[in-house]
Amino acid sequence: MKQHVVLKVNGEDYEIDIEPNKLLLHTLREEVELTGTKEGCSIGVCGACSVIVDGRLVSSCLTLAIACQGKEITTIEGLAKDGKLHPVQQAFLEYGGFQCGICTPGQIIAAKALLDQNPNPSEEEVKEWMSGNLCRCTGYYKILESVMAVVHNKISADFQLKREHKTAKIQSLNVYKPH
Ligand code: FES
Ligand code: FES
Repeated sequence: MKQHVVLKVNGEDYEIDIEPNKLLLHTLREEVELTGTKEGCSIGVCGACSVIVDGRLVSSCLTLAIACQGKEITTIEGLAKDGKLHPVQQAFLEYGGFQCGICTPGQIIAAKALLDQNPNPSEEEVKEWMSGNLCRCTGYYKILESVMAVVHNKISADFQLKREHKTAKIQSLNVYKPH
């Protein structure tokens, strides 16, 4: 039988009726309609479904949604504020920390969780922490570089301008032609 629950996701309350065994991952995607959190392995191995619950990094594919009542849930959609990307999001864009992008929300959430606890981790500590987030495109060096760019404050203040410049450059190459 469904239960009425209130989940606080990215600072907003969502009142929903769900089966008691519904996973947080599926609840976020299907009931709350935030699809940034991805499903990969479904068994707690790949990190694609990572979210932050009360400051702790968790695999939402292993977590029951009803167990998260009264807790603060943060998903990838909750990181940007007032139209400004979170520094980790910006770093991934600037330093090419993604390829197909499927693992990216989980990677960014994992990196944020680490930096919230330890703003100045070593490269080894980042590697160790991020080892629970797999990337099938194997872009691990760029992911590490992106996180270390945040640690060393190497993300640019004029990022918007750079991005526009890159977009203009790509368009001028006539490579990408949207239909
Ligand atoms: S989908 Fe949850 S860890 Fe892979
Ligand atoms: S960017 Fe494709 S799986 Fe990581």
